[in-house]
This record gives sequence, structure tokens and C-alpha cells, in this order.
Amino acid sequence: MKLFALIGSPVSHSLSAIMHQWVFNSLDLDAKYVKIQSEENELPTIIQKIKNGKLNGANITIPFKESIIKYLDEINPRAKSIGAVNCILKSDSKIIGNNTDWYGFSMTLKNNDINLLDREVIVLGAGGSAKSILYALKGMGVQKIFLLNRSIDKAKTLQDEYISAHSLDDAEGIIQADSIIINTTSVGMQSAQAPIDLGLIHKNQVLIDIIYTPLETSILKFGNQIGALTVNGLDMFIHQGLASLDLWFGSSVSTQVNFPKLKTYLESELC
Ligand code: ATR
Repeated sequence: MKLFALIGSPVSHSLSAIMHQWVFNSLDLDAKYVKIQSEENELPTIIQKIKNGKLNGANITIPFKESIIKYLDEINPRAKSIGAVNCILKSDSKIIGNNTDWYGFSMTLKNNDINLLDREVIVLGAGGSAKSILYALKGMGVQKIFLLNRSIDKAKTLQDEYISAHSLDDAEGIIQADSIIINTTSVGMQSAQAPIDLGLIHKNQVLIDIIYTPLETSILKFGNQIGALTVNGLDMFIHQGLASLDLWFGSSVSTQVNFPKLKTYLESELC
């Protein structure tokens, strides 16, 4: 039996194990997926487990998507240019870091018919998830992105010809009544907090939250109440997970998965 794991802190909220187990069962794959709550000093031990075959691969989540990189033997070019890893595997006895978050986010935009061009694009947060999303946005041709973060210094490290860095405290002067706002911070995960003042939310905005626990964060709830287009993090979560499976099994396992059925199952788990 193959064994896979989610590594992070916290991991209790994550549906990764439930999702992957559902896929393993539905495709008759002899595999198991577990969640491992970890401290950063435990990352080398986990890498060792993948090296010696006790683990066949792992997903990396908050807050290790960037710090895991220094423990890897190699990182694929796309993950390198993103600067964050959410999927690791062994290849020719080397431990390789990859990124499937950017793909999950791109698929979310595609599935929901969201056209980013000619709209003001705001990204809240500058952590590992934000890096993947910035990469996806640039790949789709977005040329101007306002990056707002609690720690301005962290946002400034991501500043370039397309991205301007700002403090979250300056949101009022930047967010427009028809902006596309993408929350990549962890604010709202298992709490009723919002990363920005709800007074800045308008009905002509598109509100995307990468959080899926809860399915409706405060920011999305308010947006839904006033008639804005809202998208939660479930599509991104499923697509990044299926892309990880393809990397681990070395084939297009994901094409055999019934996406709507899996999504309905996960939604029922979250209600
Ligand atoms: P991930 O890999 O999911 O991106 P991360 O790298 O730990 O996780 O990043 C978390 C993001 O949420 C960061 O942008 C963080 O802001 P800071 O860089 O200032 O730490 C943001 N974040 C977390 N808690 C926050 C809070 N209470 N208010 C505002 N932003 C918060």
C-alpha cells in the first residue's frame, strides 16, 4: 500500500485526507492518505521518510510551503520561479518539490468563467499561497496587481514590474467598487474575521477566497448578501490535490475522477 501525507500546522481543518481517500477508493488504488501536524524541525525527518520509502509523497501546507524548499534535493523550474512548494515526491532517489496550487487557482478561474483582464486585481496576503496565485495571474496576462499584506516588508519582496506592494491598512484607498479581490491570507479560516473591512465590499466586485473551511467566509458571506460574484476555495483545493495525484502516480489519474461527484461529496462533508 502506498502512503501519502499532508504536512503542516494546523492540519485539523483540512479535507485532504478525506478527498484523497475518496479518490483512492473510487479508483481502486491501494493507497492511504494521512494528516501529519508538524513543527518545522520535523521536516527533515519527513523528507527522510520519503527517501526511505515509508512515505510515497506529501502535500505541504501552511506555514511550510516556502521553508520546505531548503530540505529538498531539487525543485522543479515552475515551483522555483513561484518560490513555494505544495507537493513533494521521490524520483531517482531524489526528493523533488513541485507546485500544483497555481494550477488549482487557474482552474478555479476557468471553471467560474472569471475574466481578469481590464479589471483591477487585488491580492490579499503575501505568503506561499499568494506566490502561486501571483504566478497564475501573470501567466494569464494580468499586468497590474495590487498586493496587500499585513507585513508590508513581505509584500515588497514580491514587488516587480507587474506587482505593487501595499499595507493591508491602505486597502480603503486602493480597492475599487468593481475590483477583483483574492484573499490568500488565512484570515477567516475557522473564524468569523475578515482580512479587510466589509465596508469595502461592493456588489460589482468579484470576491475569491482560497479558504474552503468554511465554504462561506465572512467576506464571501457579505458579498453573497449584496449580490457580488463570489468563489470559495473548494475548486482550487480539489484541482491542486488531483494534480498532486498525477505527479505521485505518474499518470493522468485525475482524468478518471468524477469531479462533480467529488465536489458534492466534499461539500456535504463541510456542511
Ligand atoms: P500560505 O502558505 O497559506 O500562504 P503563509 O505563508 O503562512 O501561508 O501566509 C499566510 C498569509 O496570511 C500571510 O500573508 C500573512 O500575513 P503576514 O505576512 O503579515 O504574516 C497572512 N495573515 C495571517 N494571519 C493574518 C492576520 N491575522 N491578519 C492579516 N494577515 C494575516
